Amino acid sequence: MKITLSIIKADVGSIGGHLKPSAQLLQEVKRYLEEKGKGIALDFFVAHTGDDCAILFSHTRGVGNDKVHKLAWDAFVAGTNVAKKEGLYGAGQDLLKDSFSGNVRGMGPAVAEMEFEERPNEPFVMFCADKTDPGAYNLPIYLAFADPMYNSGLILSPNMAKGFKFTIMDVSYTEGDRIIELNAPEELYDIAALLRDNERFVIESIHSRETGEIAVSVSTTRLHNIAGKYTGKDDPVMLVRVQGPFPATGEALAPFNIGHYVAGFMRGSHTGPLMPVKINSSVSYFDGPPVVSALGFCVHEGKLTEPADAFDHPYWDYIRQQVSRKATEIRQQGFSGAAMLPYSELEYGGIVKKMEKLEPKFKVRK
Ligand code: 13P
Ligand code: 13P
Ligand code: MG
Ligand code: MG
Repeated sequence: MKITLSIIKADVGSIGGHLKPSAQLLQEVKRYLEEKGKGIALDFFVAHTGDDCAILFSHTRGVGNDKVHKLAWDAFVAGTNVAKKEGLYGAGQDLLKDSFSGNVRGMGPAVAEMEFEERPNEPFVMFCADKTDPGAYNLPIYLAFADPMYNSGLILSPNMAKGFKFTIMDVSYTEGDRIIELNAPEELYDIAALLRDNERFVIESIHSRETGEIAVSVSTTRLHNIAGKYTGKDDPVMLVRVQGPFPATGEALAPFNIGHYVAGFMRGSHTGPLMPVKINSSVSYFDGPPVVSALGFCVHEGKLTEPADAFDHPYWDYIRQQVSRKATEIRQQGFSGAAMLPYSELEYGGIVKKMEKLEPKFKVRK
């Protein structure tokens, strides 16, 4: 049977600043979906990562479906109403338009979707990140799909021998979707040359070259390109199919043990290490560090199992200690150099005003 998985996520309000949504907000989103979702989705699941509330749908309506997107939008509007009632911070933060117009893309929420013929067993992982942007997935997903140092299946499994096709988007282009398709392993150096620039080039999807099937879908939204000003970080979501012609679950998770430095953290304007966290984790230190959760599921005839919380394991406790140390290390240098993002990426207008004020005070010495 052909099914579609859609993750649609938004920050529609949180407790104590940008830490986490309230229990009532999450409950309202679930209640709304239970009440209005019948006949639209086959199944759904709701969780939060930091202050972002993510809905996973399984359905048969294909990607970009207006009914599914509207259902998510309306559930977030219902959540926003609770957030307003409770006086939560940033109520409705990611709902950038006043009314829904066919598709949530370009309206604030992040979307990752894929349609495929369901395998007899269909395991996949739902990744959700907070306090960072879509380029945060570039390195771990490159390593999981193109590097035998992380993905032993590239050597051991006959199902991955041909490698994978990477579709990469230039997210600085705002007139439309500017994309390039490159094949691993032949074009590895070209792929790496693009993916090193996390703020401009972002993996949008990956396909198996053995079967042509979709393996990965990443949300590529850049909120500051939509809104023209800072409205919170993009906090990306990602779907990864695993096993068979795709990496084993553990291979897809493995590169997240690097805790690599990403853009985001406090005010979306700093560099911090990406920490793998358990389901429904909040953020804390310096509104961070940037976090990512990974929930494994199986889906059968559109019905989702309960999630397996992939980063809830003693091994990842050890990694979290190491990542905490990396976060502390870079914070020691405050605003200086690599610790804060370059001017073009700063998410706050205050610095622009400051520069305008200082500009006339500069003199060129004769
Ligand atoms: P969010 O994008 O997660 O809302 O965070 C915004 C922020 O400014 C954190 O300091
Ligand atoms: P099993 O033999 O336990 O199914 O494991 C296969 C596999 O893919 C391990 O990564
Ligand atoms: Mg927020
Ligand atoms: Mg967030």
